[in-house]
Amino acid sequence: MLVCHCNLITQKEIEQVIVGLLDNDPWQLIVPAKVYHTLKKRGRCCGCFPNVVETIIRVTEEYHRRLGAGETEIVPFLDRVRGLRGQYGSSSHEGRKTDHRAA
Ligand code: FES
Repeated sequence: MLVCHCNLITQKEIEQVIVGLLDNDPWQLIVPAKVYHTLKKRGRCCGCFPNVVETIIRVTEEYHRRLGAGETEIVPFLDRVRGLRGQYGSSSHEGRKTDHRAA
């Protein structure tokens, strides 16, 4: 599934980059710009960032559950990751409404 129409980036590519970044440092905070930089791309309209943030949250959560990290470590870390919604959420881009997103 195509997530970023400006750069033609698929969901699978984004997931693979996130896992690769987490393999390097499982506790780093991944933001959309870091994912795009790794792919040697740049956000243009950035309308895809809310979906990228949701992918980061989902993949990071699954990664840490597989890693077997304890709840006391995971919960505060995932709270930080979920905090990206406030920073990159759909309400902060281009004046689009929340119902604009196709996915
Ligand atoms: S859709 Fe990703 S930068 Fe425009």
